Amino acid sequence: MTGNTPAQSAALNALALCVVLRPLNDADADDVQRIYSGPDRAAQGDADLTAGQARDLIANAAEAVDGVPLQPGMVGVTAEGRLVGTIGLRSAGGGHWRVGCVLRDDVWGRGYATAALQQVVTVAFRDPAVCSLDAKVRLDNPASARVLAKSGFRLVGQDDRFRHFVLDRPSQPPAYPSSRPVRLIP
Ligand SMILES: CC(C)(COP(=O)(O)OP(=O)(O)OC[C@H]1O[C@@H](n2cnc3c(N)ncnc32)[C@H](O)[C@@H]1OP(=O)(O)O)[C@@H](O)C(=O)NCCC(=O)NCCS
Repeated sequence: MTGNTPAQSAALNALALCVVLRPLNDADADDVQRIYSGPDRAAQGDADLTAGQARDLIANAAEAVDGVPLQPGMVGVTAEGRLVGTIGLRSAGGGHWRVGCVLRDDVWGRGYATAALQQVVTVAFRDPAVCSLDAKVRLDNPASARVLAKSGFRLVGQDDRFRHFVLDRPSQPPAYPSSRPVRLIP
């Protein structure tokens, strides 16, 4: 996934600008199952999501966030006109929020996670009660670490499985190089 030429990167960035976040709904169950399936999960010892688990995930998606204008707590990431991932925020207490993003493995490397994360960061800090965002990524997932670093998160620690990143509330709203007006579909 590394080593794109400048032309490829530009094309991928253009595609990434078409990333739209929207709430999940019951019709997304098959796509959600696909997002949480595949070799990356298997390598972590996680089974593919079942149809019932996908329905539960969708049903619970709205419950995680309370008081932050990113509603619901987990939203769908759409690109190329289809649901390709999820991204969510949940409170870690004291004005600190945790962000997590999962994309189906056949769309990795197209800039979608970066675009989705930067939209969520932008929306999250519109709430003055949000002091910081954090995220953890597996040690064997440098792409995730790169997505966070590109979005301003700094590495604050590491344990035997994860790297931990934090983004403190910026003094100015974040201005990402390729950012477009956030299109979060209510
Ligand atoms: C992490 C994940 C979301 C990445 O999504 P993505 O859409 O492929 O990410 P992007 O394309 O926006 O960016 C990936 C970046 O990592 C870089 N990258 C990819 N593989 C890499 C590697 N092996 N080493 C270093 N960097 C790498 C890419 O070059 C790109 O950076 P660039 O734009 O500077 O070139 C996806 O891998 C995933 O769903 N993983 C499983 C769940 C997970 O780990 N979530 C993270 C918790 S928040």
